[in-house]
Amino acid sequence: MPLPSLKGKQVILRALGSDDAPALRELADNAVISRFVSYVTQPFTLDQARRLIDLAESSARQDRGYTYGIQIAETGLLAGMVGLGEVNRKDRHAALLCWLGQEYQSRGYATEALHLILRFAFVALRLVRVHATVHETNRPSLRLLERLSFVREGILRKSCLVDDRWLDMHSYGLLQEEYRGTGLDRVESA
Ligand SMILES: CC(C)(COP(=O)(O)OP(=O)(O)OC[C@H]1O[C@@H](n2cnc3c(N)ncnc32)[C@H](O)[C@@H]1OP(=O)(O)O)[C@@H](O)C(=O)NCCC(=O)NCCS
Repeated sequence: MPLPSLKGKQVILRALGSDDAPALRELADNAVISRFVSYVTQPFTLDQARRLIDLAESSARQDRGYTYGIQIAETGLLAGMVGLGEVNRKDRHAALLCWLGQEYQSRGYATEALHLILRFAFVALRLVRVHATVHETNRPSLRLLERLSFVREGILRKSCLVDDRWLDMHSYGLLQEEYRGTGLDRVESA
C-alpha cells in the first residue's frame, strides 16, 4: 500500500526517500536513541540510514510495516521516525515505533506524531490492537504511552542488555475500542 502523508498542526508524517539518509544518520547517531531503539547503533552510519530507508520502502510495499519520517511543519526539517512494524492483517495488530532526534524531544512532536499514526492504524488499516515494548528506564516513553491510554499488560523480564545490565521491558497495548473511547479518532488534523 502506498504511504499517504498524514498532516498534523506541528508535524507532517511522510514517506522517507533516499535524500533523507544524511539527516536520518545525523538524528539517529545518538547515545540515548541507540540505547532505546533496537535497530539503532552508535555510531550510526550513512549506509545504515540508507538501509533503514530501503527497509521502510519494501515493508510498506509488502504490507508488513509502515514507517514514516516525522517532518516539522514549520521548517520542513526531518525530526525522527514513527511507524507500525510487524503488521499482521489476519489478527489485525501491529507494533508501534517512535523516536525523535534529541533536539526535537519534549516539545509535543512525538505526542502529535503518535496521534496521527494511531488514527492511521485504527481507522485506515482497521487494526484491532497496537502494542509497544519499552525499557523499564525509558521514562519519557512510558509517560507518553500512558498519556495516550495504552495499558500496561506485562513485564518481559531481562529482555535487553543495556550498558552491561539486564533490563526488563514493559509491554503495552491499546485496543481499537479504547482508542475510540479517547475521542482522538474524531479530532481534526491540519
Ligand atoms: C520516547 C520519545 C519519542 C518521547 O517523546 P517526548 O519528546 O517525550 O514526547 P513529546 O515530544 O510529545 O513531549 C512530551 C513532553 O513534552 C511536554 N510538552 C512540551 N510542549 C508540548 C506541547 N506543545 N504539546 C505536548 N507536550 C508538550 C509534555 O508536557 C511532555 O512532558 P512530560 O513527559 O514531562 O509529561 C522521545 O523521548 C525519544 O525519541 N526518545 C529516544 C528514543 C526512544 O526512547 N524511543 C522509544 C522507544 S520505545
